[in-house]
Amino acid sequence: MRIIPAKIPITEIDTDAVVVGVYDDGSLSPGAANIDGMAHGVLSKLIESKEITGKRYELLPLFALPDIQSPQVLVVGLGSRDEMSCGTAYRAAAAASRKLAGKERQRVAFFIDEGWTPQFSEAALAGVLVGCRGQDLYRAEKKCHVFAETVIAGSDANILSSGEILGQSVNLARQLVDEPPSEVYPESFAARARQTAEECGLEIDVWDADRLGEERCGALLAVARGSNRSPRLVQLRHQGGPADQKPLALVGKGVTFDSGGLSLKPSDGMLAMKCDMAGAATVLGAMRAIARLNLPLNVLGLVGLVENMVSGDSYKLGDVLTARNGRTIEVHNTDAEGRLVLADVLCVAVDGGAAKIIDLATLTGACVVALGNDVVGAMTNDQSWCDVVLHASESCGEPTWQLPMFSEYAEQIKSDVADIKNVGEGRWGGAITAAKFLEEFVGEIPWVHLDIAGPAFIEKAKPWISGGGTGVMVRTLVEIARVLNDQTR
Ligand code: BES
Ligand code: MN
Ligand code: ZN
Repeated sequence: MRIIPAKIPITEIDTDAVVVGVYDDGSLSPGAANIDGMAHGVLSKLIESKEITGKRYELLPLFALPDIQSPQVLVVGLGSRDEMSCGTAYRAAAAASRKLAGKERQRVAFFIDEGWTPQFSEAALAGVLVGCRGQDLYRAEKKCHVFAETVIAGSDANILSSGEILGQSVNLARQLVDEPPSEVYPESFAARARQTAEECGLEIDVWDADRLGEERCGALLAVARGSNRSPRLVQLRHQGGPADQKPLALVGKGVTFDSGGLSLKPSDGMLAMKCDMAGAATVLGAMRAIARLNLPLNVLGLVGLVENMVSGDSYKLGDVLTARNGRTIEVHNTDAEGRLVLADVLCVAVDGGAAKIIDLATLTGACVVALGNDVVGAMTNDQSWCDVVLHASESCGEPTWQLPMFSEYAEQIKSDVADIKNVGEGRWGGAITAAKFLEEFVGEIPWVHLDIAGPAFIEKAKPWISGGGTGVMVRTLVEIARVLNDQTR
């Protein structure tokens, strides 16, 4: 898709459709006012008669308005003017984009409210890109058609370019999740990471199974053993800051398919498990954006890539594994594999001199039970670092809620045989016992664990996004990198 900043009045550009916003107090965005003025007040009349309410994400397509060249004007509700946020800008733009993408279109134009902050405009453009991509990668008859050209009015060119970078990076994460596990497996994911790294100037280092052995990644390797696909650990490095600056480390769970292993999942629970590399995809998407935006700080992106499968050589219940930091782990359930993979990758982050760590993982069904499908769970060993993460997620409109880390929970992962075991006692509090397990591998470094099991993958489409991978937290991670950078300046 080509993005064109509108230099001449958008109403004079020949487009298939024009998108304008309306607030729920009945007030028009500048673009809507412009259309209203040219089309003899038709929008005002529709607002008066309550055909248009301006409710958030309401979509009303209008056709053949008098004196408007474009055959369609799509009016999107923006909700309350006072409560306008990046999240609303992102979702409203995406909802309009998704609606228009239902049919092939040459050229679509979006009026961004000139009164918006640069952050809102940037989020809106990202939303435009996300809304017009679907999960129908393998359908002959597509439901989503990317516009050939997108004209954007009301925002300046550098905001457009950063919005485009964000949108593309979210879409990269989404696409990796949406592609089937026959295509996305540890080796192919690593190849995609290499391609991305080369395209955007990230340093990359890939560890194969032999190297993982030399590096004492015994927990990750145990999970990988059940699969014919060999594991990988990918390290991406963005050196935007001074050479001696300790990096922010982003760590992702990359289980490219989670069958559960010998603790096999029932079919119902297994179907969506191509999504179990969403943490890794999010890290790759964020690293891409951070590199493309040239953020002046050092960031390390680490992803642990394995398939959790069943074979004669699968790791077993009762096995004792030794992680990279020497901790011994008794396996009580092979379906609690994500924490085993992350254990070693977190150690690599620590050894890589990380100043701060964030990990992202589709780690537990328990987190979905606790918070539902739309909210990310956050757990931490350092409240002020967690506050930075929560604040960034809030300002991006990616809802995140903190769960407690009382030491009582850690009692549950004690083992009679080894230092720890890989599940708690029973299912209750499972999101937190998983985080308590991870905490064993981050030493004293400020760390936030983000359980994205709910929001990373949605079964059903929402008005602003198709079903499948959502790319949740890519924008938040970039925001965190921006904030950190502002703090160190
Ligand atoms: N990948 C799953 C968690 C998951 C569940 C992600 C639903 C997305 C949607 C994870 O590896 C897992 O199987 N966790 C187990 C842990 C249990 C065995 C302690 C779970 O949540 O049931
Ligand atoms: Mn599992
Ligand atoms: Zn898993």
